Amino acid sequence: MSKKIIVANWKMNPTSEKEAISLAKATDKNGVIISAPFVFIPVVKKVLKKAKLGAQDIAPSSVGSQTGEVSADMLKGFGVKYVIIGHSERRAMGESNNIVNKKLKMALKSGLTPIVCVGESHRDNQMKYLGFVSAQINESFKNLSSVDFKKIIIAYEPVWAIGKDAEREATPEESHEMAIFIKKVLSDTFGGNNAKNVKILYGGSINKKNSYSFLNYGGVDGLLVGRASLDQKEFNEIIKNA
Ligand code: PGA
Repeated sequence: MSKKIIVANWKMNPTSEKEAISLAKATDKNGVIISAPFVFIPVVKKVLKKAKLGAQDIAPSSVGSQTGEVSADMLKGFGVKYVIIGHSERRAMGESNNIVNKKLKMALKSGLTPIVCVGESHRDNQMKYLGFVSAQINESFKNLSSVDFKKIIIAYEPVWAIGKDAEREATPEESHEMAIFIKKVLSDTFGGNNAKNVKILYGGSINKKNSYSFLNYGGVDGLLVGRASLDQKEFNEIIKNA
């Protein structure tokens, strides 16, 4: 098994530059990607020695009249290496698979490694959620080259297991099933060679207690961590398990 990837998704946290610097310093470990809010990227970049820098979103185009947007090239210029695309919290604000596809192409063009989030908002007994996730994959990844597929990371994040209002935690078995399902969809649509190069992460209510089982039995190459990435001690335990 290759080395595990641990992504910290700080979301709209912490509230001050001082806290951002101290959290970055405390969790600066090999194999970690810290996805900070845009405004903290320059200061976080300065303190990181081992961890890589990530962003939480990018614009769907490269330059121009797009108030409030930040482009992939701008981020690249500040030392960003990874970018989360299509997080469920952005999809909830109206981001479609088509926009995710545009952002993904922008990231790849600028040399950023995209971490594309997919996942259903609820599970139904008729297994319709599988069709939902496969549509997310097929539409988000359309018109990519084989070279592109080597650089992509997918984060499977069931929306029902994310955040403090999560219905429940997912199980490592559910993560494993979905990792296999995602590879199967990729393989059916884009070919086995492309599918095998894609790394898959699990995300949603990861903490120090459940991280070990997700890393060992979740069938994934790493974890995308929200809340627990804001707590130095908790996050360092997760990193230790990885
Ligand atoms: P959580 O968030 O770990 O706080 O559930 C995960 C995510 O939304 O990426």
